[in-house]
Amino acid sequence: MTQDEAKKLAGEAALRELPSAGVIGLGTGSTTRFFIEALGRAVQAGGKYIGVPTSESSRALASSLGIPLLSDDGPWDIDVTVDGADEVDDALELIKGGGGAQTREKIINFASKRNVIIVDETKLSSRLGERWAVPIEVLHFAHAQTAKQLAAFGVVTTRMRDGAPRMTDSGNFLYDVATGPIASPRALDAALRNVPGVVETGLFCGRADVVLVAGANGVGRLLPNG
Ligand code: A5P
Repeated sequence: MTQDEAKKLAGEAALRELPSAGVIGLGTGSTTRFFIEALGRAVQAGGKYIGVPTSESSRALASSLGIPLLSDDGPWDIDVTVDGADEVDDALELIKGGGGAQTREKIINFASKRNVIIVDETKLSSRLGERWAVPIEVLHFAHAQTAKQLAAFGVVTTRMRDGAPRMTDSGNFLYDVATGPIASPRALDAALRNVPGVVETGLFCGRADVVLVAGANGVGRLLPNG
């Protein structure tokens, strides 16, 4: 099974985690894309779902599929959000933000009654930070000064795209902080968020109600308490 096939399996399995109708948070990324496509088919078949997108790319995809969307302003009453992750540890703590959408993703995650995370099995690791740097959205103003402060936590790189800094949907900079294995994701998240200019981190602690992991043996269902 290819990684893409596993992502598709996870994305389609997430449909089974939804209520029969309701407000659904739409995550961002290549795995979530498969979920949004499946949700689009459900809506086209008469399903009464309304989406809240976590990025402009997810908005565009959902709109193209005819999924009705709520405004960005909130407040929302979101039943379930389905989103991907870059790294998942044994306690189901997450690193997200490989697509640069972690701030909107975190807001929508916190606004949801349930959060379903969909990954292929390559995303599992025993300790966050072993395989991924922590993505940080940094306010445009004084971003290089903020990045200098972030260097206390690890090796800082500017996220680039097409030879220029990659900006977030909200017009801010993205930095990746390579920390190495993280002893306490919660403590690191708090410390990073204490740096002036940090808008949001990609550390999601205690924010997954279930993680669907797809691989050659099908889809596993991981719960926070085992
Ligand atoms: C987007 O900013 C991210 O949080 C994604 O959910 C995460 O990077 C997973 O993306 P893929 O599903 O493309 O691996």
